[in-house]
Amino acid sequence: MSRFIIKSSPPLKGSVKISGSKNAVLPILAASLLTEGKCVIRDVPRQSDVDTMRMLLESIGVNLSWDENTGVINTLASGSLRAAAEYELVSKMRASFLVMGPLLARLGEVNVPLPGGCAIGARPVDLHLKGLSALGAEVIQEHGNVRARAKRLKGARVYLDFPSVGATENIMMAAVLADGVTILENCAVEPEIVDLANFLNSAGAEIRGAGTGTVKITGVKTLTEADHSIIPDRIEAGTFMVAAGVTKGDITVTNVVSDHLKPLIAKLKEANLNVIETDSGLRVYYDESKSMVASDVKTLPYPGFPTDMQAQFMSLLILAKGTSIVTETVFENRFMHVGEFKRMGADIKIESRSAIIEGVKRLTGTQVKATDLRAGAALVLAALTASGTTELSDIYHIDRGYCNLADKLSSLGAKITREEEKLEKNTK
Ligand code: UD1
Repeated sequence: MSRFIIKSSPPLKGSVKISGSKNAVLPILAASLLTEGKCVIRDVPRQSDVDTMRMLLESIGVNLSWDENTGVINTLASGSLRAAAEYELVSKMRASFLVMGPLLARLGEVNVPLPGGCAIGARPVDLHLKGLSALGAEVIQEHGNVRARAKRLKGARVYLDFPSVGATENIMMAAVLADGVTILENCAVEPEIVDLANFLNSAGAEIRGAGTGTVKITGVKTLTEADHSIIPDRIEAGTFMVAAGVTKGDITVTNVVSDHLKPLIAKLKEANLNVIETDSGLRVYYDESKSMVASDVKTLPYPGFPTDMQAQFMSLLILAKGTSIVTETVFENRFMHVGEFKRMGADIKIESRSAIIEGVKRLTGTQVKATDLRAGAALVLAALTASGTTELSDIYHIDRGYCNLADKLSSLGAKITREEEKLEKNTK
């Protein structure tokens, strides 16, 4: 297995350019299945989740090209398409389930394996299916697959019991080609939803209100072509902003939308870090005169504090003065990193959905494991400030959603190297 070797590093200093958003590009690639013309998708990050979505689209019949130097993907979904997704790809990445809505709308039928649970929770898809049924689809679950059929979807009023990001995206994509008007209520308002709606509208869809709790989608007959640039990744930006705090450094993140980072900025300030908006981006720096202090965090759907930043922010709180309480309300099992932090000397207790953290002065390097994508990033941050050397394994999780994390950190002064998996040679 590939791993990171991370040594105690000096305060990180400098500026780092943030890549396109993973959680925006994945649904937008799925949405390209709805279009009959060429789509040009720009600022696509180099990550293994994007590779998985590319493979999935190609297996469905999309003609796709990817230039990793320019970060541009071209898609053409005008030929014959398969109404099915492969289990191997869906089980690898839950976002693969996002092809369900587009394929159903475009082809009138679809068969997608149920994605199942993952390290951070059970993650059902009931809300996705409830929405597609409301649009008139016959939805059948059997043998671990979901089959859905509808000659033509019909616009409807859909209320989501919880503002699920994926359900909002899947239903929105299906409704775009439905007959009549769909009103989606209590839906997710994340910036990635707005980016998806902007992409769809540029291809001819009629979506109003994305980014608010009620979205109106007026169905159109076809979608044509689009040329779209992906928004910057707010979670990657947040990870580097926390890195400035953890290492007591001074980092400017460029190519960011500061509005998307409001909840994190508020918490960084509460912990006594300085955050200022500059001409080029956001600068986060530590001030010797103010030591970092504890802060309570509760994860919530946007615009609340993002669950995808919970682990990274915890890497800062374990070193802050005082007691912090981190409450995870979005996923039921997202504290896998706590055990790894404790191996490094952190003082954390879990009580139900909260982690109670007593700040410690220093962490010590040891062998730890990335248990999921954001937990992996959080352990990298903690390791930068731990004494000695940390060996972080299972970093394939990090590759899913960060583009060149080690190189970007090194450019800021971090002592991090990557050791690639050694393939055993068969000498016989
Ligand atoms: C997306 C993000 C992920 C982020 C999450 C929450 C992508 C590719 N992934 O995941 O990084 O952590 O939003 O911000 O964009 N739920 C149900 N039934 C459903 C759907 C969801 O009960 O049908 C529950 C989930 O189990 C979870 C909560 O709702 O507890 C939030 O899930 P959701 O917003 O759907 O997250 P994802 O779209 O899977």
